[in-house]
Amino acid sequence: MYYYIIMIETKKHIKSKPYPNNEDFLIWEDGEQLCLIDFKTFEKPIVKKKKAKVIALKGHELNDLNGSEWTIHGKSVQTFNSPITEKRRKHGAAFPISLAKHFIKIYSKPGDTIFDPFSGVGTTLDAANILNRHSIGIELNDEFIKLFNQGIDPKDGKPNHDYRRIVIQDSALNVYKHLSVESVDFILTSPPYANLLNKIRENFADKDYNGNPYKNQSRKLAKPYSTHPKDLGNVTYEEYLVKMKELFLSLHQVAKQGAYNAWVVRDYRDMGNNIPYINLHSDLISIAQQAGWIMWDFVIWNQSNQRKLVRLGGNKSRRYYFNIGHSFILVFRKNMKGEKFK
Ligand SMILES: C[S@@+](CC[C@H](N)C(=O)[O-])C[C@H]1O[C@@H](n2cnc3c(N)ncnc32)[C@H](O)[C@@H]1O
Repeated sequence: MYYYIIMIETKKHIKSKPYPNNEDFLIWEDGEQLCLIDFKTFEKPIVKKKKAKVIALKGHELNDLNGSEWTIHGKSVQTFNSPITEKRRKHGAAFPISLAKHFIKIYSKPGDTIFDPFSGVGTTLDAANILNRHSIGIELNDEFIKLFNQGIDPKDGKPNHDYRRIVIQDSALNVYKHLSVESVDFILTSPPYANLLNKIRENFADKDYNGNPYKNQSRKLAKPYSTHPKDLGNVTYEEYLVKMKELFLSLHQVAKQGAYNAWVVRDYRDMGNNIPYINLHSDLISIAQQAGWIMWDFVIWNQSNQRKLVRLGGNKSRRYYFNIGHSFILVFRKNMKGEKFK
């Protein structure tokens, strides 16, 4: 079987190249290992399975929301509550499936292909599958791939075997090796945060914090994802931004014209290096724009009900810190031919 390989530099499609025989990555679908994938089959359901019920939408429609659903989905501050399933609890930094369903319903329609370059335990892929979309993810960590391969938790919804749900075990930075140019309808992801998870355990507050009964409680978030050299959760912030720009460039290549690209991110503090506020969301917006993405929208995810409030700072030192109780969903879009959005 043969496969399209993308030449990012020349933007040329080269047909009929064998899929790279490289032991650095593995591909999984429905818990089974695949030798290779022919992504052309994404256009139709796979032959061995019964025909998919694709709702008849033709042309450039974005989604299949009706008028009132379109309006209801338009709130720019959102709360997402859904059951924390076993695999998401084990991951520690997975987003709720209700968040994934919300954005997939807005930015894609049944039969589309959804991609998550940092797929973790596969929340984006599960939501896409339940909503009759094909899905593909990239994830480095073996443990998370195993949890993904256990399938969709019934608490999240019913799996739909007419649609593909594939994860590639590799670095997101190799996306151009696996996906062809203009093949993805919607990207939804939440990235690793440079070496945040190594820092978040540090006690960043001042003296008054020591007397706080909630001391350290809200700091105990996820453990670092892995010690893998390609894990972007282990690199310095500067290196991280360089790699993320590389990724945004590749994503721009694999996204179809008019496709949206949504990133769930949270700002943080690095008091070990005397940086009270790391403006991650704003840095990511800048590099995404440099990579050709149009800044399109911005949603606030209110998470203040999810953690106990902690008293941060110190009166004598005149330092007051807010509990960061929200994330941002940064929405980018790729121009369609003839569009001139900047
Ligand atoms: C914030 S988590 C994503 C969680 C995911 N949204 C979910 O709900 O399961 C970021 C993920 O990026 C993965 N990761 C880190 N560096 C990576 C890389 N270079 N390529 C692919 N995945 C990477 C981590 O293992 C982690 O699972």
